[in-house]
Amino acid sequence: MKKKITKAIFPVAGLGTRFLPATKSIPKEIMTLVDRPLIQYAIDEARAAGIKEFIFVTSRGKSALEDYFDHSPELENTLRKKGNLDMLEELKSTNMDSGAIAYIRQHKALGLGHAVWCARRLVGNEPFAVILPDDVIAAEKPCLQQMVEAHAETGGCMVAAMEVPQEKASAYGVLDIKEDMGRLVSVKGMVEKPSADTAPSNLAVIGRYILTPKVMQNLNRIKSGSGGEIQLTDAIAEEIAQGRDVFGYRFRGQRFDCGSKAGFLQATVAFGLAREELRDELGEYLSKLMSMRHAAQ
Ligand code: G1P
Repeated sequence: MKKKITKAIFPVAGLGTRFLPATKSIPKEIMTLVDRPLIQYAIDEARAAGIKEFIFVTSRGKSALEDYFDHSPELENTLRKKGNLDMLEELKSTNMDSGAIAYIRQHKALGLGHAVWCARRLVGNEPFAVILPDDVIAAEKPCLQQMVEAHAETGGCMVAAMEVPQEKASAYGVLDIKEDMGRLVSVKGMVEKPSADTAPSNLAVIGRYILTPKVMQNLNRIKSGSGGEIQLTDAIAEEIAQGRDVFGYRFRGQRFDCGSKAGFLQATVAFGLAREELRDELGEYLSKLMSMRHAAQ
């Protein structure tokens, strides 16, 4: 029987330079979409997929992230006393079980592959998931859950995949397609950040992965790649070179690149409009804004 995927790695060591000066004192992952920090969306998605152990690869200056996961008995008591039970429930839903979270530091910024490798001992000899919290995916069925279900059929390694405009391919890991089966794609190669004219396709890797422990072994060996960093993409591509299966999974849902300002703002608007209590007011404001823009043109 295939092993259940119960562990997920969240690489959160990045400096967040694109969001300076905000990220001078708050980790990027604590920045909020509406009223939930980015990391909460990632945690909720992992939980929905059956993840029980949450491994954060952090770096200096990320202690606010650890504090965020602490329970807050005083706040809970105050809400209880005030009878604010909805908010209390909301707050409690973010509580993590004791012992379910582990933190490990990436001491040097050597790349995503290196960050994942830092968690090797915590992962052990099991398949595991990786979630990049910058990629926020709005979906009826959370993306990682879709992938876990597909992976139960395929085994091997699986990466979330999405078509991007050819000229944007150089910002992603890109798949070289062996067989396109629709939602599922079998892969014969992967390249990290290829130049637009050498990209093997326009099917890009998005930040959700289900990986076998062999990928950790590959990370032991591989040398630095694109941008002088140890790339996760290269360690997965090594699986293909060794004759093992790698799949791309075209997920259902909308992905927001919350590592960029424009993507973050788009996500804020989309998640705001998805909230019943905000929809009307925000929608009206946006329509007013658009009609003013049109009038000015
Ligand atoms: C990382 C991965 C890349 C992937 C991307 C998805 O790149 O290295 O393969 O396509 O995430 O968001 P980064 O955006 O950290 O440069």
